[in-house]
Amino acid sequence: MTDPILPPGLLFGTATAAYQVEGAATEGGRGPSIWDTYSRTPGRVARGESGDVACDHYHRYAEDVALMADLGVDLYRFSVSWPRVLPTGSGPVNAEGLAFYDRLVDTVLEAGVEPALTLYHWDLPQALEDEGGWRVRDTAYRFAEYARVVADRLGDRVHRWITLNEPFCSAFVGHAVGRHAPGTREGRPALAAAHHLLLAHGLAVGELRAAGAAQVGITLNPDHLLPATDSEADRAAVERARTLHNRTWLDPILTGAYPDNEQETWPGLADGSYRMEGDLDTIARPLDFVGINYYRPIMLRDAPHTEPDPALRTAADIGTEQVPFEGVRHTTMGWPVVPHTFTDLLVDLKNRYPGLPPLLITENGSAEDDRPDADGRVHDADRVDYLRDHLTALAAAIEAGVDVRGYFVWSLLDNFEWAYGYDRRFGLVRVDYETLERHPKDSFRWYRDFLRDHRARR
Ligand code: NOJ
Repeated sequence: MTDPILPPGLLFGTATAAYQVEGAATEGGRGPSIWDTYSRTPGRVARGESGDVACDHYHRYAEDVALMADLGVDLYRFSVSWPRVLPTGSGPVNAEGLAFYDRLVDTVLEAGVEPALTLYHWDLPQALEDEGGWRVRDTAYRFAEYARVVADRLGDRVHRWITLNEPFCSAFVGHAVGRHAPGTREGRPALAAAHHLLLAHGLAVGELRAAGAAQVGITLNPDHLLPATDSEADRAAVERARTLHNRTWLDPILTGAYPDNEQETWPGLADGSYRMEGDLDTIARPLDFVGINYYRPIMLRDAPHTEPDPALRTAADIGTEQVPFEGVRHTTMGWPVVPHTFTDLLVDLKNRYPGLPPLLITENGSAEDDRPDADGRVHDADRVDYLRDHLTALAAAIEAGVDVRGYFVWSLLDNFEWAYGYDRRFGLVRVDYETLERHPKDSFRWYRDFLRDHRARR
């Protein structure tokens, strides 16, 4: 299959996140985060793995930036670890932590790559969790202070700022499904967490603007949701899921209103007790871009609630059940590969939200069953196909009028895939976790050639 041709102005990058790659968990004055606590709790992460060492990017960042320079990307998306900068979440700044990001940004720029900085990729300082974490409003104010500290230090060189990464996961996978830190199964507190994440985002936008940040956005993971059948019940199930996954975030941020079906989705739980007058104005502050992470579609049907009493349900118990996709390949995450749904999602977003800012595809990629040959080389044809097919789907969305400005492959490196630990590999570069050596895969060479051809058209 031939590679798709994308508009010459489209920027390309790769992405990582602090807890997934940095390691050095107890070095440089870093404080503990909820992911340190969670991954040290037996039974939470596969094989008891943690981000203690990860890819050791904290020490090997120069080598990783050199790989990016070789790859020829325009952009590098990384996240700052809040507890590295503010070990207890607020209070005194850890100069050594901030200095690390200062060096990283300079190294990235010297390599001819532009940094795109995410402020929160799930590693809440444990000290703030001890005070209630995202369930309490105060955490949103602490986040705004942290945003200002980072912007004051790096704002002269970093022009693209992402407040939060996938707040859906922080609120609901963390506090309702319980598969991410802090790993609880809650009802109203999970909805409060969602609201405080939105508020944190809005407050941080204000701080970033005040610090002179050029481009400010948020990364969301709206899902492409399909009903298993055309029945009214299955279509209603999809609408509840659309609120849980997508509208809770997109509606307040882009339209300044909460979804109108919160009561159907969370009867008795969504009482708004955690909301205050004026919050929506803060949350709906204008953005320069919205980041979209996209991997796979979800098919759903109506199903009985796990807990019959609405008041006792978790916020993820909305009477839906996933239905497997038949006849398509699945990645090692068990995710169906259906590239045209990427086009469908983007076109759907454009239709639903007329004021949609330009989009950056801040993550797309696949975890595959990578087998290194004797030289450590990985011939990951499935990943190349996945990327090529999703870029083809992206080209179709752009052709249909969706305003997309950038695309990032997740990820530069194999890394700590949260509750799955290290055996789900998303990297363009293989990491040998015994030696920490990096081995570019065939997908790395494919992306490099693709980018060279793309640049030649500029
Ligand atoms: C989304 C998350 O932002 C990232 O941390 C994760 O590794 C990828 N998806 C793959 O699951």
